[in-house]
Amino acid sequence: MQVPLERIVFSGEEIASRVQELGAEITRDYLDEYGPEAEAVLVNVLKGGFVFLADLVRCLEFSVVIDFLAITSYAGDGASTGGVRIMKDLTESIYRRDVLVVEDIVDTGLTLSYILRNLSSRKPRSLKVCTFLDRLSSRIVPLQVDYRCFEVGEEFVVGYGLDYGQKWRNLGYVCTLRLEEHPRSDCP
Ligand code: XMP
Ligand code: MG
Repeated sequence: MQVPLERIVFSGEEIASRVQELGAEITRDYLDEYGPEAEAVLVNVLKGGFVFLADLVRCLEFSVVIDFLAITSYAGDGASTGGVRIMKDLTESIYRRDVLVVEDIVDTGLTLSYILRNLSSRKPRSLKVCTFLDRLSSRIVPLQVDYRCFEVGEEFVVGYGLDYGQKWRNLGYVCTLRLEEHPRSDCP
């Protein structure tokens, strides 16, 4: 596998230590808020969030239930500017439960704001957001991100679940690629 690597943005070691730190923070918050019986339904947004989820859950020291949501973006000139539709729904009911959405990256916030609107209509007791990367500079829809591992700049990044044309999700670090064309039209 030849990675057309340009620059490593976050190394595997940096990620591991930050995920552990964030997991401890989330554990503290949920135990403080809900006591030893705390239980969260972690809603993972496929596909990009699966690597982060796998590492994060092993750093959470309270009960968790895992569920998955797959969405697709449509219309607009670029995946993030159109609408969003659910392709695979949750299997769990989240009614009166404590839900933590686990995302790979929040960019414009359009995808997440749709997801949050949809999930809150199911009346969870609480609804929070945890993202691996947050590209605050691109935000169009203001929304509250409760937990973030790292803030990231404008450059398109891959690895640790994030892809370009469905590739590079298996890299253990986050990097930019040497690409001929600007890849934004190909995301998510
Ligand atoms: P919005 O703009 O709705 O989009 O917040 C979030 C989704 O867009 C994808 N995305 C990226 N994927 N590297 C990627 O691999 C990136 O730099 C990037 N920026 C946005 C991603 O699927 C995310 O869920
Ligand atoms: Mg995503």
